[in-house]
Amino acid sequence: NALPLAFLVAAYLVGSISFAIVVSRLMKMSDPRSYGSGNPGATNVLRSGKKAAALLTLLGDALKGTLMVVLARHFGLADPWLAGVAIAVTVGHMWPLYFRFLGGKGVATAAGVLLALDWRLGVATLAVWLVVAASTRISSLAAMLAAVASPLLCFLLLPGRTAIFGGVLAIAALLLQRHKRNLLQLLAGTEGKIGQKSEN
Ligand code: G3P
Repeated sequence: NALPLAFLVAAYLVGSISFAIVVSRLMKMSDPRSYGSGNPGATNVLRSGKKAAALLTLLGDALKGTLMVVLARHFGLADPWLAGVAIAVTVGHMWPLYFRFLGGKGVATAAGVLLALDWRLGVATLAVWLVVAASTRISSLAAMLAAVASPLLCFLLLPGRTAIFGGVLAIAALLLQRHKRNLLQLLAGTEGKIGQKSEN
């Protein structure tokens, strides 16, 4: 049965669509890789000052994750494959085929994937992101703490779903690895706040 493998490939290809880049092109804005942190993601698109573009980026990057996991489940894929599809779509976002493998940090896509794997897990992880973001106004800190929380929440909310736990753990590890520069900037006290416009 080639269906699970086809799903893994499709998830990677769909994940590779960077909505930050696509939305910016469609709205005739500068390429998000040319300003702010240079990251093709909603947080950085917001630095352009165009809230609608940031919102569309967030929705597109999240929904591509949700869509692939929901479709995979609809076609009857079991937990290990669902976890694989969740990882593949996130990996596509981080190392996109269409953009020389230089992608984003995976926060929105991971959120979309978690919501699809289990809505309570998604909502609980998003709550961590929201509480940290609301209190610190630092997007990367919210993402890193939500990433750390997600496997713990998965363990509590989905006991016995070992494959899903493995997938969530892998996604959290990838996401943290993508935030290395943000962590260094946080420690140096130079990390920007949400919505601060970029100077370049
Ligand atoms: O959405 C990614 C966020 O956690 C950090 O983005 O642009 O501030 O590096 P950025």
